[in-house]
Amino acid sequence: MCQSTHSSQLFPHGELEQVFPNIWFVQGGWDMPVPLKPRISRSMVIIRHSQDSITLVNSMRLNDEGLKQLEALGRVENVIRLASMHGADDNFYRERYGAKVYALKGTQYTRGLTVDIENTKSYLQPDFWFDEKTRLPIPEAKVWVMRSPKLKEACLLLPQHNGILLSGDMLHNTPRPNSFTNITAKLFMRLFGLARSYNIGVGWWHMTKPSGDELRQLLTLPFEHVLPIHGEPVIGNAKNKYRKAIERFASRSDAKQWHSNTDSNTGHPEREMRG
Ligand SMILES: [Fe+2]
Repeated sequence: MCQSTHSSQLFPHGELEQVFPNIWFVQGGWDMPVPLKPRISRSMVIIRHSQDSITLVNSMRLNDEGLKQLEALGRVENVIRLASMHGADDNFYRERYGAKVYALKGTQYTRGLTVDIENTKSYLQPDFWFDEKTRLPIPEAKVWVMRSPKLKEACLLLPQHNGILLSGDMLHNTPRPNSFTNITAKLFMRLFGLARSYNIGVGWWHMTKPSGDELRQLLTLPFEHVLPIHGEPVIGNAKNKYRKAIERFASRSDAKQWHSNTDSNTGHPEREMRG
């Protein structure tokens, strides 16, 4: 997770990697706002659509060279924030390019690591609060919202190539510390078993307490690939690759009894995904 703060800071990152036609992925680092400042990995997705319009998902500030490469791809017009504990760089792209910011309805931009959004005020107002019914700037994209955690999260589902799922903190793919993580983060990853492929966001799960039923619903979504907010892209057979972790953490959620049988699907009057 990358908790939002009130200001954007530049952190090291890698090259823009084209993973599908008109879709790029870039990995970088982020200092968690906790003692010892572990620099963990984070990733951004760049989507080009509608006559060279660009939408950034899970935004990450790029350096000057990265911004040049981004500008060469098209016009940066939109930013979509999927995860409650991310978004610190959204305003950077709004100020630099006039990008419209879309953030998930029912979340907030908060400072520090907290799930106590009832007693905090959003430090940033996006241009749009979106949900499953919002028409996003990527016309073919569908939204799926996980509502049972303490902090809501959304996934974006693109239909091409048998389904590309863009996730927030719920799905990670960090088989090893990447080159941007620092020694503290490397130690934490080894110590807490976070250096794993195709995993649930363990810290997110502990903090936000999703229901087991809703975690399992991820497996009903039509996707073949995952572009996660932390770690490496998962190209091909992604649902099967994540299945064990999703089922394991869903069972753990059940055992914790965070949600009763009657409210485990709270907020889901319908499961239809809409763009
Ligand atoms: Fe995160």
